[in-house]
Parts: sequence; structure tokens; C-alpha cells
Amino acid sequence: MCGIFACHRHPDVQKFKPTALKLAKQVRHRGPDWSGNIISNHTILCHERLSIVGVESGAQPLTNADESIILAVNGEIYNHRLIRKHLKEPYHFKTASDCEVIIPLYMEHDIDAPNKLDGMFSFVLYDKKQDRTIAARDPIGVTTFYQGWSSKEPDAVYFASELKCLHTVCDKIEAFPPGHVFDSKTGKTTRYFNPSWWEETKIPTAPVDYTKLRESLEKSVRKRLMAEVPYGVLLSGGLDSSLVASIAQRETLRLKKQALEANGGVELPENPDVGEGLVGIDDDNNLSTVTYLPQLNSFSIGLPGSPDNEAALKVAKFLGTKHHVMTFTIEDGLNALSDVIYHLESYDVTTIRASTPMFLLSRKIKAMGIKMVLSGEGSDEILGGYLYFHGAPDAKSFHEETVRRVKNLHLSDCLRANKSTSAWGLEARVPFLDKAFLEYAMNVDPKDKMHTKEHIEKYILRKAFDTSDDPTAEPYLPEEILWRQKEQFSDGVGYGWIDALKDNAELHVTDEMMKNPKPEWGNDIPDTKEAYWYRMLFDEHFPPHCASTVVRWVPKWSAQTDPSGRAMANHNQKYDHVA
Ligand SMILES: *[C@@H]1O[C@H](CO)[C@@H](O)[C@H](O)[C@H]1NC(C)=O
Repeated sequence: MCGIFACHRHPDVQKFKPTALKLAKQVRHRGPDWSGNIISNHTILCHERLSIVGVESGAQPLTNADESIILAVNGEIYNHRLIRKHLKEPYHFKTASDCEVIIPLYMEHDIDAPNKLDGMFSFVLYDKKQDRTIAARDPIGVTTFYQGWSSKEPDAVYFASELKCLHTVCDKIEAFPPGHVFDSKTGKTTRYFNPSWWEETKIPTAPVDYTKLRESLEKSVRKRLMAEVPYGVLLSGGLDSSLVASIAQRETLRLKKQALEANGGVELPENPDVGEGLVGIDDDNNLSTVTYLPQLNSFSIGLPGSPDNEAALKVAKFLGTKHHVMTFTIEDGLNALSDVIYHLESYDVTTIRASTPMFLLSRKIKAMGIKMVLSGEGSDEILGGYLYFHGAPDAKSFHEETVRRVKNLHLSDCLRANKSTSAWGLEARVPFLDKAFLEYAMNVDPKDKMHTKEHIEKYILRKAFDTSDDPTAEPYLPEEILWRQKEQFSDGVGYGWIDALKDNAELHVTDEMMKNPKPEWGNDIPDTKEAYWYRMLFDEHFPPHCASTVVRWVPKWSAQTDPSGRAMANHNQKYDHVA
């Protein structure tokens, strides 16, 4: 990922510049490789770069030939080569960066440009000829993005990858809505992403096609292997990350075989642990490769003896990935907590619990020289995989809840994945949130997705990758992983983690404090000591007006307020087809 900061129509932008650079520096962890900024008229765009594609040439902000259009992007555009090919007017590209296509796309399609992008992105584009700024965020909000205003400069508008860039200069801050584009010409922020499944009351009726579901996810994973730098996969040993790892590993082996054949069957020279792979969508809308990754690295984390590490190791052995197990102690986790909240910019209990291990693991991964990882977020939202979905009264409610959860991903799991990794200059890519995969999976009849006596949660995904009725097929995963029952990520790292958080909250928050929440919290009153504690830690980093960007988990179909899945009775239920 990268970090961006921008201000449009600042009354004295030259004077503001040193401040702007300081604010941009607040997100340098996201892009430690280079920094750049451009001032044009009253607008400043700043960029902190993490280089993954176009490493040599892609410094930002990017500009067009006469420098009348300036662009700062945080993102990855998987279909950039296809876009280049189909531009109506020939365009002189200055770099090999995938993001540069946004400039000619804007020239041709104006504010419809973001709709043409297949990828994850947040960007600010300044068009000098029109003194106009447009800003947009990817459809689901895989990348984080904020917008702010200051009552001192009412004409100015601010944008940044993270909240921490804005709160000292803005007194009003909002999370920029995913799938939207802002246009300074009208002052309006409008929705550009309007997929067929957006209207949650429209209940799909198409029965699941397992082949389509499988192929769609496979394509989505392969697209995301576009990189010129070492990468890996986060592997918790749960269904979602294991499938992503399995697909990525198959692709790695396929490319290796292809390269070997191209080399006349002669074994290629010894490669380093992590090599280069450049897979992406080529000019003809096919997935293509320039070089290949000799070995896929996978990573897991847990407390000593955690179920996740054990399961991940099993999967890694089965797949043949080069697996790295990280164990952390409860003390490591507790020590990191304030830092986690600073980076996550949230006090949501589920997010903080689950982010801490991911935050610790990301640091290790980055220290190994890896810049990008694939991750399994989104599957539970799309397929209704959370255990509370068992309580859905009917298919209609089930479907509506999946749509609601996908729409809220930018406040929960996308935020977690993006910020836990970006804290250390690592980038997370999430294949389940691919536009085409969503288009398919969100249009499957919810009756097929629902948990029943015969069907464990996420049955259709498991079934789509279950090759057991074809003895000649190479299995994607071991049977017991493919059909392993869900554990919440935060539980999978070891049950001791959540208990420790609750115990520690008791030490920091008294009953007296619970009875007297801070007046500035308004109606957003923590309902547990743990929630109270996180809110206090949040307040140490951020002033009260930042809380408007945080959304806490709200339970559905159950009276419990503890978001941990294990608190639910059905967690221990056993299924017949689990060995
Ligand atoms: C420069 O910016 C100011 C403030 O937005 C605007 O009023 C003015 O028209 C702009 N000048 C040009 C040449 O675009």
C-alpha cells in the first residue's frame, strides 16, 4: 500500500506546505520507499510510496504530458494493461506503474473513471485546467480513505489514507464512502459502484453453479499475483485462507512447470527463497506471467499450541508452501495494544482483538523482505459464514444480512487487513472481494448458502473445491481442512488471548468508571470493560471528533453482545462429515 494526503483549495498552500509534509509523514509507514508532493495553484497532493509494480519508475504524484493533471494513488489496478490497450486516444505513459492509467481514464471518462478500474484504490486527482479535484475509493473499501474539512478554511477539502493525517487540521472528518467519487466542481460525493446485488431487498434466485464459483475465485487469486517483489499468503488454516493459499500455490507450480518447459526441461538456476512473479491481466484479458515465483511463502500466527498454527502447518505441508509459524505471547499482544489502536484508528472490540495478531505477524513478514500478502477477508460476509448466521430466520433475512455485512466491510475486516499490514509497509490483497467474484457469489440463492442440518456454514464454497468424487483430481485441501468448522480469527490464535484481554480490562476499568462514561462519548457508551478500555486507549491518540469514523459491531438475531463466536452455543456443535 501507499499513503496519500491532499488538500484542495487551501487559502495559502505555500505556507501550508511544511504542515502538509508533516501530515503526509503520518502515513509514511504505509509507503516507506519514497515520498513526493506537487503543488498546483491552491492544491497540494502528497504521496508516500510502497513500490510493488513499476518499482523503478512509478514515483508519485503522477502527471500527464503538460502536467495539467496530477494524481496521487494508493492502490493496485489489476486490469491496467487492458485499460492501456483500450484507450480511445493514444496516451504517452511516463511510467510502468499500474496506477498511471487513471489519468487517461479520467480524460476519457471523467468521473466515471473509477468504474472502469478493477482493483483496490483510493486516489486524489487534480485537474489544473478546471481547478477541479476528484477523489475516489474502491468499490468495497479495501483501501482506507478519509475526507476532512476545517471550519477555519471553509473552502478547503482534505483527503488522507488514514485519520491520523487529518485530525490536527480538520474539525470534521468522515470515512470516505467506498464505491463513491467526490467532485469539487459540484461539491458532491456520488456512488459509482452499482452492482446488481446492491439492493438488499432484491433476493437472488439463481441456484449455485459450483464450477463458476470455483473458477471465479481462482481467477481472482491469480489476478492478485501481479507483483515485481516478493510476496506470500496469510494462512490461518481456516477454510478461506487455505483456499487462497491452495490456489496461489497451484498457480506457482503451474508457472514453474511452464518456465521449466520453456527452458527445454532444464532445471532453472537456483532461486532465492522468494523470487519475482509478475502475473496480471494482459492486453487480451488473459492472465499472464512474465517471471514466476519459485516458492510460495505462507505465514501463520498464534499463541503457543494455538489451533490456527496447527491447522496452518497441516495445510502448508499438504500444499508444499514454505511455511513460517510465528508464536506470540499474551504479553507481546498486550504490549502492542496501544500501538494497534493507533494504527487501526478504531476501538471496536472485534477489530482490536483480531488485529493484534495480524499486526504482530505483519511486522515479521516485512522483516523477512516480503511486501505483499494475500488474505482471506470477505468470505464470511459474502457467504454468511459467521456462526450467528445460524440464527437467520429465513433466506430473505440471511441474504439482507450478507449484503449489509459486505457493505460494512470497510469499517471492519477490510480496515483490519489494510491497516494491520500497512502499519509495517506490507500490503494485503483480498481475492474474495474481487468485483467479478462478488458479482457471482452475491447473486446465488441464499437458500443455497444457509446453514442446515446437512450443510455446515459456507457449504457451497467447500463443495466447489471438494474434488472427492473425482479420484483423478488433485485435491485442493485436506478433507479435514476443507470441512473444518469455523473459528473466529481471534479465537483461532488461542483462547487465552481473549480471556487475557478481558482480564486486563478488569484491571484498567473499575465498576465506578463503567457507571460514569465520559460525557464527550455522547451516546456511544462502551457496554463492557474491554470496550471501555479500548476507547480510553483510542482517546489517548485521537481527539473526540475522530470517533465519528468508528463503527462498533452490532449483533443480530441474538441477545449476546460479545462478538466472539465461541460465546455462542452452536460453536461446539459437531458435524457428521467432520472426521
Ligand atoms: C486557483 O485556485 C483558486 C482557488 O480555488 C481559484 O479561485 C482560481 O480560479 C484558480 N486559478 C486557476 C488559474 O485555476
